[in-house]
Amino acid sequence: MIIISIKELDYADSDVYKKFLIDKRNKIGSKNVFAYGASYNNVPCGAILANVVQCSNTNLEVDITSFFVLPFFRKKGVGSLLLNSLIYKINELGIKKIKVTAITSKKNIDLLEHFLLKKGFSKAKLISVVYFFDPILLLKENELIRRIARSDLKLPEKIKFLQEYDVSLDLIKKVKNKEGIDYPDVLSPFANEFGLEREYIDFALYDDKEIVGWITALRANVNAILYRTFFIREDFRKKSLGYFLFNNCIKKHVEKYIEKTGLFAVDLKNTEARKLFSLYFKGLCSEPKYEFKIDMNIEK
Ligand SMILES: CC(C)(COP(=O)(O)OP(=O)(O)OC[C@H]1O[C@@H](n2cnc3c(N)ncnc32)[C@H](O)[C@@H]1OP(=O)(O)O)[C@@H](O)C(=O)NCCC(=O)NCCS
Repeated sequence: MIIISIKELDYADSDVYKKFLIDKRNKIGSKNVFAYGASYNNVPCGAILANVVQCSNTNLEVDITSFFVLPFFRKKGVGSLLLNSLIYKINELGIKKIKVTAITSKKNIDLLEHFLLKKGFSKAKLISVVYFFDPILLLKENELIRRIARSDLKLPEKIKFLQEYDVSLDLIKKVKNKEGIDYPDVLSPFANEFGLEREYIDFALYDDKEIVGWITALRANVNAILYRTFFIREDFRKKSLGYFLFNNCIKKHVEKYIEKTGLFAVDLKNTEARKLFSLYFKGLCSEPKYEFKIDMNIEK
């Protein structure tokens, strides 16, 4: 029988346990963050990290953003010990809802779902598919990307691409209020459910008078840029504007962020955008990962 010890982690444990934490935003020891680590004979073998978030005026919710046990130590009760420690804490705090949100492979989601279903959690809801690409590899292997990087991108007539700070506040306000442009909230240029720092927003303007599309770049961590909320207004679709916006983004990535991994998160239902990505990346991005959510109401 192996003896596993579990401890509540604080700032001093950060270095030792950081390899288990896929969530780089919430740090061990920060306010509203709870983390537990598991070790065998003083060798760390897994960790869980959760963040207390306000989901309405009065209700708090706990969001597990990292939960990982080294494969060799799985199926030995480590995951259950970590989760139970966290649930004990949540019960003490009187919080009634717990969820897991993260980005990982389908294989890992299936594993986690199988494990959590037996503990009373919901099935996994997949939210978006996330493509990872290495710009150096893309540039080396893909002629299309090389051409984009070299070209001057002649835009369609009356179309301009401008960064947020070059666009008038009036036009931005109209987009925020959905005046003359409608989009699902998750595709707002300002949507940022991951709570990441913004790198830039590129807006597509028609005739200097209206915003008809955008792409938003967020800093996923020091080594990665996450592109989200790639959107073109309905009446401007099928005019290759999406390709231009996307090409511009790839060109910029190669010029400015060549050392950084690129991530594109695409709504699962968005087949057009998924087609676009497979055309550009053609086997040159790693197996897509998925953003998912699993939740549970805690009964006393
Ligand atoms: C999900 C995960 C955390 C579970 O960790 P674990 O240490 O294997 O969990 P446990 O050992 O407590 O339970 C796993 C299974 O082993 C069984 N088990 C526990 N102790 C056992 C033992 N001594 N002998 C045999 N089986 C055992 C449990 O009953 C459970 O079975 P079930 O899944 O059929 O219910 C782990 O699989 C993992 O790290 N997966 C990847 C997670 C990931 O992708 N994280 C990133 C996104 S947050």
